Amino acid sequence: MLIKGKTVVLGIGGGIAAYKSCELVRLLVKEGAAVHVVMTAAAKEFVTPLTLQTLSMNPVSTDMWGETLAPARRESVEGRISHIALADKADLVVIAPATADLIAKAAHGLANDLLTNILLATRAPVLFCPSMNVHMWEHKATQNNIGRLKELGYHLMEPDSGELACGYEGKGRLCEPEVIIEKLTRM
Ligand SMILES: Cc1cc2nc3c(=O)[nH]c(=O)nc-3n(C[C@H](O)[C@H](O)[C@H](O)COP(=O)(O)O)c2cc1C
Repeated sequence: MLIKGKTVVLGIGGGIAAYKSCELVRLLVKEGAAVHVVMTAAAKEFVTPLTLQTLSMNPVSTDMWGETLAPARRESVEGRISHIALADKADLVVIAPATADLIAKAAHGLANDLLTNILLATRAPVLFCPSMNVHMWEHKATQNNIGRLKELGYHLMEPDSGELACGYEGKGRLCEPEVIIEKLTRM
């Protein structure tokens, strides 16, 4: 799929590789995509919404409770409840980094935050880009969850091997942003 002119929803999980998501946003915008970033609560511990808002030139969504608590903000600019609006407007959804926790939630259809609700509500192709410690990646629970994601029809980029932020060597590095974009163009 050509990226230019497409709406890409980028979901960011709470992993150390979230810093690479900033570069991914920059490159997607450079390719001509409209990028809407959705961060989990844990993701905000790693990078700021302000950085991602500046790079994407769009508001960053971080939670869904504001809609419920403040009636004046119940609806998005399009006049729709925002997690459904974001799910519907996406041509592509990318989760990078996809943490072990996010993968587990998606594999079981949990929907207890904005990003996991979007994952259930969207009809767009979804690409998961996992990143974690090698032992977390190799754990049977994670591997079972990865198998479930494939069964559910999600696209997946295997993590790269090499030096990991946790000090280990092995599989678990987030794929480079350029490679993620290349994969998106083939979806
Ligand atoms: C410094 C630090 C780095 C972390 N890096 C990762 C990581 O790379 N991958 C991962 O799966 N979890 C990582 N975690 C654990 C996640 O932050 C944790 O499981 C969190 O609940 C994930 O939330 P999410 O579902 O919003 O992504 C890290 C935690 C800390 C404190």
